[in-house]
Amino acid sequence: MELSFKNKTVLITGGASGIGFETAKMFTQSGADVAITDINAELLNNSTETLKLSGYNVLAIQCDISVEQEVENAVKQTVEKFGKLNIAYNNVGIQAPVANITEACGADFDHVIAVNLKGMWNSLKYELRQMKVQGKGGAVINCSSQCGLLAQPGLGAYSASKHGVIGLTKVAALEVAKDNIRVNAICPGTTDTQMVRTAIKDYPAHMQKVIDGIPLGRIANVQEIASAVLYLASDYAGFVTGEVMALDGGCILV
Ligand SMILES: NC(=O)c1ccc[n+]([C@@H]2O[C@H](COP(=O)([O-])OP(=O)(O)OC[C@H]3O[C@@H](n4cnc5c(N)ncnc54)[C@H](O)[C@@H]3O)[C@@H](O)[C@H]2O)c1
Repeated sequence: MELSFKNKTVLITGGASGIGFETAKMFTQSGADVAITDINAELLNNSTETLKLSGYNVLAIQCDISVEQEVENAVKQTVEKFGKLNIAYNNVGIQAPVANITEACGADFDHVIAVNLKGMWNSLKYELRQMKVQGKGGAVINCSSQCGLLAQPGLGAYSASKHGVIGLTKVAALEVAKDNIRVNAICPGTTDTQMVRTAIKDYPAHMQKVIDGIPLGRIANVQEIASAVLYLASDYAGFVTGEVMALDGGCILV
């Protein structure tokens, strides 16, 4: 067995930056054709251009994950370009401003749920349909968070959405197991991306507390998260489905 994705097509949502982009990079380096979707057209074009200049087969698709029709089109465009879909990494996730439920804004709650949870449902619906039609199995990895496993005051909408991602993952895993499609979730802890750098700038005291509470004593780098996605997508994880993998430096232990 080798960790090669030659002749595999991978779709990554929200892949223009952070963990998603690193995952796209690692899949292309391992031989895959990679379709990358993102809502941010400029970021998407810049990121995919870097990969194309390195000679990799990459397709950029602008797509708002919360809009069902756009997600259906993104899967269609991927298959038109590369002929099939074997692996999907559903990476998109956004944060709401930190606020306790009593102070939080309803519109922020709705937006986070629309992107993080309905967006995940949209993605699963069309990716799994395509994989089922192909009849050759597949692997899907959904991005939850340590906030999908734990409670952190001030993160009600985000935490609810990420707990929901775990629920969807388990249901989907059972629904497509007979089609030999595996569906797993990762739960990253605090990871060095733009989202976290912004949070450190906007909420320094809150973020310092978060970092101080990590048993391994540091935040993760994006390669450490992307590696787990590649493992779950590979034949090494051939008997793993419905799994919820914490990548959090030990946070759920304390
Ligand atoms: N960075 C962390 O510390 C951390 C911790 C736990 C979980 N996560 C999760 O990891 C995933 C990636 O996070 P990241 O830190 O790399 O974030 P990021 O902000 O760097 O990347 C997210 C990408 O999603 C895109 N996006 C946002 N809304 C979208 C929409 N409606 N449709 C399509 N694309 C959209 C953004 O343009 C961006 O490119 C998220 O699901 C996040 O919740 C991150």
